[in-house]
Amino acid sequence: MARSDPRFVCQSCGASRPRWAGKCDACGAWNSITEEKAREAAPKGLGKGKGCKLDFVSLAGKHNEVARHASGIAELDRVVGGGLVAGSSVLLAGDPGIGKSTLLLQAAGALAANGVRCAYISGEEGIGQIRLCAARLGLAEAPVQLAAATSVRDILTGLEAAERADIIVVDSIQTMYLDTLDSAPGTVSQVRGAAQELIRHAKQSGSVLLLVGHVTKEGQIAGPRVLEHMVDAVLYFEGERGHQFRIVRAVKNRFGPTDEIGVFEMTGAGLSEVPNPSTLFLNSERGPVSGAAVFAGIEGTRPVLVEIQALVAPGPPGSPRRTVVGWDSGRLAMVLAVLEARAGLSLGNSDVFLNVAGGLRINEPAADLAVAAAIVSSYSDRPVREGTVAFGEIGLSGEVRPVAQSAARLKEAAKLGFSHALAPEPGGRKKNKAEAEPPEISIQAISQVNELLDMLAPATTAANTAAKTARVREV
Ligand code: TYD
Ligand code: MG
Repeated sequence: MARSDPRFVCQSCGASRPRWAGKCDACGAWNSITEEKAREAAPKGLGKGKGCKLDFVSLAGKHNEVARHASGIAELDRVVGGGLVAGSSVLLAGDPGIGKSTLLLQAAGALAANGVRCAYISGEEGIGQIRLCAARLGLAEAPVQLAAATSVRDILTGLEAAERADIIVVDSIQTMYLDTLDSAPGTVSQVRGAAQELIRHAKQSGSVLLLVGHVTKEGQIAGPRVLEHMVDAVLYFEGERGHQFRIVRAVKNRFGPTDEIGVFEMTGAGLSEVPNPSTLFLNSERGPVSGAAVFAGIEGTRPVLVEIQALVAPGPPGSPRRTVVGWDSGRLAMVLAVLEARAGLSLGNSDVFLNVAGGLRINEPAADLAVAAAIVSSYSDRPVREGTVAFGEIGLSGEVRPVAQSAARLKEAAKLGFSHALAPEPGGRKKNKAEAEPPEISIQAISQVNELLDMLAPATTAANTAAKTARVREV
């Protein structure tokens, strides 16, 4: 018989070590190391062709179409790829108080109204609290089955005894516990064990499992990383504190596209959909001011226009500040370095603040040109021409590179009344008819960042910097 040696494995990252420890050396997680017995050698006869049970089949063949439950909340349905897939499990993660419970209660209410059987199990709030919330959302009469429980055994027994539910909401996975494990709810092994049992039930019964997950201060889903691997889809519910806008973003989806976003607004009566987010992220009432540029972006399949604001202000020599909200700080450092090296801006003694209006977080490199335009505009104290959008990726040599879907970006800009665009040269690729720009918008091709400077600040640097310094001295 093979000798079995104890091995201590971190349940968070999977690193193994010979002795127990309170903290994992590999990932830094506390209390995540447990003992696992492993066989040292493979059992005799393994892989020798005896009693083979595996039958290979070809890739071509019949498959069942997946059954989907559409909630009717279009912003949510699009993110999950057209509806929730029967038998799948979805994790909705987000900061406390962002509106996860509200969104899932609304989704359950909408689904139940369409005749889909929904069960809502809360480990966080009592029945009375949920009823109060449902009344506020106008869902008091929705035929949703409600329960307050935290024991996975009770939940599974209850679900098996009752009529089969098509949708099961579990709020939240960190409050659930398995009585077969010693550790407290919310610990790595409990989260993993509880999720495993619930997912197994969903797969067997063909129900959709919607799990709520908390996010740690660092922005990661509290509990093991394996939770993200276990479920079929991971949705992040995000939004800046102090803003009403909430964004659902798919970061993993086995049954649909990722990078798709759904935009909501938190109101007194719950979350309301925002079908045209561009109007939300633009400040239309104000005239042109320096330091603002409109970026024509693409989020998933949708074009979204968003205002980017920059402020370049004199700072203490030697340690200038760089503060970014809604964009990547490394990317800002690159754009600033390129502006200094290739366009002659001197930013060494200036603080730079960058903000994406409305609480949206942009990940596209296509925002480079709009960011550069906002910075140059603030630096030279001259507004970008009214009704202008910008997009394009900036390379280290200062060149502005073409980006994907420029026609869709321009079309959205034209639809919202923009008349000019700062965009890269279309490149060597010949454009086809479908990609033709809308005629209402005039495009100014930018191939190098220094052209931005010439355009925004014709009488550039020397005169302007002198004027600026004089102004600062007067103050
Ligand atoms: P909630 O869904 O409980 O957040 P989570 O489950 O992510 O912790 O939402 C809590 C916040 O939403 C709370 O601060 C109040 C606000 N809210 C509204 O503004 N309007 C509403 O109709 C509801 C139900 C909540
Ligand atoms: Mg909640």
